[in-house]
Amino acid sequence: MIIGIPREIMRGEARVAATPETVKKFVNDGMKVLVENGAGVQSHFYDEQYVEAGAEMVTDPRELFRRANLILKVKEPLFNEALGKHEVDMMHQGQYLITFIHPASPVNHDMVRRLASTGVISLTLDGIPRISRAQNMDALTSMSTCAGYKGIIMAANDLSFFIPQMFTAVGMLKPANVLVIGVGVAGLQALATAKRLGAITHAMDIRPAACEQAKSLGAKVIETGVPPEIAVGQGGYANKLPEEWLEKEREVLRGVIKDMDILFLSALVPGKVAPILVTEDMVKEMKNGSVIVDISIDQGGNCEITPPGTKEVKHNVTLCGIKNIPGLIPTSSTWMFANNVYNLVKYLVRDGEMVLDENDEITRSILVTRDGEVVHEGTREAMLN
Ligand code: NAI
Repeated sequence: MIIGIPREIMRGEARVAATPETVKKFVNDGMKVLVENGAGVQSHFYDEQYVEAGAEMVTDPRELFRRANLILKVKEPLFNEALGKHEVDMMHQGQYLITFIHPASPVNHDMVRRLASTGVISLTLDGIPRISRAQNMDALTSMSTCAGYKGIIMAANDLSFFIPQMFTAVGMLKPANVLVIGVGVAGLQALATAKRLGAITHAMDIRPAACEQAKSLGAKVIETGVPPEIAVGQGGYANKLPEEWLEKEREVLRGVIKDMDILFLSALVPGKVAPILVTEDMVKEMKNGSVIVDISIDQGGNCEITPPGTKEVKHNVTLCGIKNIPGLIPTSSTWMFANNVYNLVKYLVRDGEMVLDENDEITRSILVTRDGEVVHEGTREAMLN
């Protein structure tokens, strides 16, 4: 089998789908690996390291897409402006693709239909089920870990206060207060990182299990008052709250956010728009010089005035809606991503061939297009609406 690793073409995307270490593992497993020149440079993995690991470097992405049986990427196929060609149009019948496709998202429907009509067998990493045996393939969780860590570092950088308590010759400076709202994988990492920096950490989540985990990281939990039977749905995930409960939650928040220096917003409901938990009026009540990092911005944001994709100061508060935070810590995020993808490929390959067993929960959850059709249930439903 020939694996192709193209250079990512989305503007600002510094990650790549394989490291020299995973290339070496693929080669040891009997596969040939083609890597586009410079594909890893921005995440500090260099061509000579890939060559040493056994890769063949390729200059022209069209050649790489033509020769490979399996393409591994970070981002969904996009239009390559330098070549004037969409990446899907460089792909061919029977070729496999593994990447984050986000196939249910309406902006990707046209691209997904084109993958199907081209005969590409595409598998999406955002579909990996959250079950124990899939944990080492779960790139979404890895990327949440990166976003939680880097998001707090970004907040610390923009904050006009020290985070730790400081004893100086002129007196004592109090430690910063950090509130994390939505304590999933990213939120937990944010709490742990803030604590390491010396902050007093606070957490808020509607799932009792998340609150317990926050407590175990030393955070003070702020009770939302939302009953668990309303808050928690199928599989233990958060439910979309009815507006009256969201309003109650905002009231609780209103009472505490004026004491916070950093708000880290990471509250999400699977498959839904992010709940608005912080209104503009609430931002006005925050301390001058405080910071909001809203990592739920891809799903619309938890704060109603977060600027999507950028950073702005409003009402003397820095609001950060920067997207693709994992891409800002590219060596670590690439290392994690590449290992997740390696584990997935290893799981799917039998005797040097990709074998897709649709009775298997992992395969069924990630398969998007096959035999000229869109087969992913969530995507088919989304396409009908
Ligand atoms: P997520 O990114 O979907 O959501 C983040 C958090 O927002 C959740 O904790 C959710 O309860 C919270 N939230 C939603 N609405 C809220 C509201 N109105 N107010 C406050 N908080 C709100 O969460 P993620 O990271 O996907 O984790 C969800 C669960 O899945 C966790 O229990 C995690 O441990 C589990 N998980 C399991 C994995 C596995 O077994 N492979 C992998 C990753 C996560």
